[in-house]
Amino acid sequence: MKVPFTWKPTGWFMVGWSADVMPGTVKPLQYFGEHLVAYRTLDGDLHVLNAHCPHLGANIGRGGKVNGDCVTCPYHGWGYGPDGVNRFIPYEDRPNVTKSLRAWPVTERHECIFIWHDPAGGPPRWELPDLFTAYDDMPSDPSEYYRAYPEVSVYYPREPVHPQITLENAADSIHFKYVHDATVDPVLMSWDPVGPLFHTVNGWPVPSAKSPDGMALKIRAISCGVGGSYSVFEGNAHYRLIFFTTPVDDESSDMFYSIWWPKRAGDTSDVIPDDLRERVEKQFLQTLWDDLEIWRYQVYVSNPALAQRDARPYGAIRKWAAQFYEIDA
Ligand code: FES
Ligand SMILES: [Fe+2]
Repeated sequence: MKVPFTWKPTGWFMVGWSADVMPGTVKPLQYFGEHLVAYRTLDGDLHVLNAHCPHLGANIGRGGKVNGDCVTCPYHGWGYGPDGVNRFIPYEDRPNVTKSLRAWPVTERHECIFIWHDPAGGPPRWELPDLFTAYDDMPSDPSEYYRAYPEVSVYYPREPVHPQITLENAADSIHFKYVHDATVDPVLMSWDPVGPLFHTVNGWPVPSAKSPDGMALKIRAISCGVGGSYSVFEGNAHYRLIFFTTPVDDESSDMFYSIWWPKRAGDTSDVIPDDLRERVEKQFLQTLWDDLEIWRYQVYVSNPALAQRDARPYGAIRKWAAQFYEIDA
């Protein structure tokens, strides 16, 4: 997919689910054109470093081992600390502290792993909100929801889709009818750029709805940079989801989609029952596939002929997104 901006935007990007990297294990990752290694100490601390050992270039994500708070290279056993600096060389008296791996800022929220990407290598400039506390007027106890992963999550690796495309979906209330067979046209009720976050509210107008504004269902969403968004659905079911698109290289992205569905009354299990999972999968996880079938073959139009209804929100979201493209394409 050709886009008029870089595949290396600044911000937070999801790179997996916490359960993918258990204590004492190592996982290879590939994002923003770099090979990375994620490892978790036995104490549970998660670290992400560049993967290629400065000694002779082995990929530490492929066979590296956790050793205390370090990760060791599978080739000759050099160990690197969470800051990426060489901590020991097993057959030498001293480490070579001039050798280091880039350490990526990493954070875990609601069992998902995010890294901070800045093409200049700078530290995080803003904090990622938490899906469960981002909306202070709604029930926010994660234990009231079934776990999202692995039962109610999907992962699409290496799709030819730039995150800007998925971001712009936030401004698009018209496609629901055509792509998702929605019988009622949603209305984009409001949008509000606030620093690195872009808030939107979509409503489904149903005349018989009891809600005072006549909206049977509302989706409140927060785009967190261009990387992805959190959404909360208010209606007969009250659920939350996240959707992130993280560039792998200059052509493709990995997509992560998770739904937290409220537990049935009296259910104490964390695992969603099969019948409910099937329903959620069909009704909600499937919608991403429908979008993907458009996005995979789409070209990016820089100067679109927008209808009256979408011109303002599209304009606003494109203007807001420009802050995350700090280097040229
Ligand atoms: S290549 Fe990593 S220790 Fe030699
Ligand atoms: Fe969609």
